[in-house]
Amino acid sequence: MADKITLFVNGVEVEVESGKNLIDAVAAAGIEIPHLCYHPALGADGNCRMCLVGIEDGRPPLVPACKTPAQAGMKVLLDAAHIKKIQHDVMEFELINHPIDCPICDQAGECKLQDYYMTYHGQPSRMTVPQVQKSKKLDFGCGVVHDQERCVTCGRCVRFCRQITKTGELGIVNRSDQARVTIFPGRPLNNRYALNVVDLCPVGAMTSRDFRFQQRVWFLKKSPGICHGCSKGCNIVIDHHREKYADDRIYRFRPRLNLQVNGYFICDEGRLSYRRENEGRLTVARIGGQPAAVADALAACRDELQRAQKVVVLLSPSCSLEQMLAAREWAARHGAILSGFSDGYLKPGDGDGYLIQDDKSANRAGLLLLGIDCRRETFLAALAEAQLLINCDNELERSFPLEELQQLLMGIRTILATSHDSPCAATADIAVPVASFSEYDGAVVNCDGILQCFRKAVGKNEPLPDMADFIAALDGTAADRAGLFTALAALIPALAGQSADTVPAQGLKLNENEAAHVSA
Ligand code: SF4
Ligand code: SF4
Ligand code: FES
Repeated sequence: MADKITLFVNGVEVEVESGKNLIDAVAAAGIEIPHLCYHPALGADGNCRMCLVGIEDGRPPLVPACKTPAQAGMKVLLDAAHIKKIQHDVMEFELINHPIDCPICDQAGECKLQDYYMTYHGQPSRMTVPQVQKSKKLDFGCGVVHDQERCVTCGRCVRFCRQITKTGELGIVNRSDQARVTIFPGRPLNNRYALNVVDLCPVGAMTSRDFRFQQRVWFLKKSPGICHGCSKGCNIVIDHHREKYADDRIYRFRPRLNLQVNGYFICDEGRLSYRRENEGRLTVARIGGQPAAVADALAACRDELQRAQKVVVLLSPSCSLEQMLAAREWAARHGAILSGFSDGYLKPGDGDGYLIQDDKSANRAGLLLLGIDCRRETFLAALAEAQLLINCDNELERSFPLEELQQLLMGIRTILATSHDSPCAATADIAVPVASFSEYDGAVVNCDGILQCFRKAVGKNEPLPDMADFIAALDGTAADRAGLFTALAALIPALAGQSADTVPAQGLKLNENEAAHVSA
């Protein structure tokens, strides 16, 4: 916990953390100092001058708040007439050549220039000469489209590529009103985090080809979530919207700050994985390849269970802890063999030592935590004896070529509960559609042993059962989610006394012992 110091803003005493610059220090106390070029992940550049404030201690009349450390007893002036004038003048300067067409800009509604204009300027333009014209639609690569006229040359995007990805594809060329952000000839953006420049850009100069002009941002509902693209478990905002007469649909994932997990950023692959939540879904159950009602498919599953003596339950390494525990308890009650075999989710060498991990599953640590066997040989041995395989959304196609998989499953009845359609869903004896991760509550443990809870974000017009519902339905009962969490809390010491609502937003770091194994 950082030390606290007291300073004064407009004569009002404020307690802030020491060691921060004035922008961040007073922001934590709910006071905004306008800024464009400063970003906490990139540091202070001092180029936009939007953050100028007064300090009553004999210093020059104006100092940039981004470069001024908060100090005890400091008297900061934000509302004096000369401060308001400089904010007004900086805004007027920024807007000399900026297109005044917010209604057709993709950034409208989440643009700092638009917000600051309304707060600090609000005057019509005094310019009578034509604005400088620049390129409007430059393809910078990696799905980033740049509008040079909207750029305020704050340099955040340039610094991101230099400091964070260390790829340096962007630069600012020329000076004064001819200054512009560009790529080197023939060398577009080429890094796995490039789309973060779209979030970093305070104005509408960097847009995502994928999202631009798809939806006005004020219609989007912003729900917190956890990316399931790899074992890092980056924190995301799920932006979704239900158009009239249509279903709730996700339009984009954006990074959500968690200094313990992903900081300010996410990778592009995870960002674009929102599409998978919308597309390729299994929404109708199948019995023998024919469409069926979910209730009929579940009844057919119970009939299969009546007939089978040797049952194997296979879990996806992306199931939530609650779903894994439900499967573990079910398998123990019914004498079934439980496996978490999922080697195909591992892509050795794909991780980059920053956010992207080799393991493309969200909760392999959860399988280990619950002591679920993930070994290939034990899974194959169990399968050799099995009469019935209940597959809980494990994409076996990742682990075996299709022909080999067909051979392996020859003579075994298969029930597949899955959120997505696939060759396995097409050939399963019974396929049951289940909710995907944006549609249920759950907890996962990431590659660093951090347990995080997430909430249902998207409400479909026709909700599907989640995996815990499916497992309970095999016994003809309903899932007891609160009971499952309580059972988890009894198993995992770090969760003692917690509910899903009290787990801290930045997650709970499990200690080495419990992260390794909770005995069955
Ligand atoms: S494109 Fe955006 S982030 Fe980059 S310099 Fe211009 S305004 Fe700043
Ligand atoms: S690093 Fe992994 S968890 Fe993070 S956004 Fe990318 S795929 Fe998702
Ligand atoms: S934020 Fe301080 S000069 Fe730009």
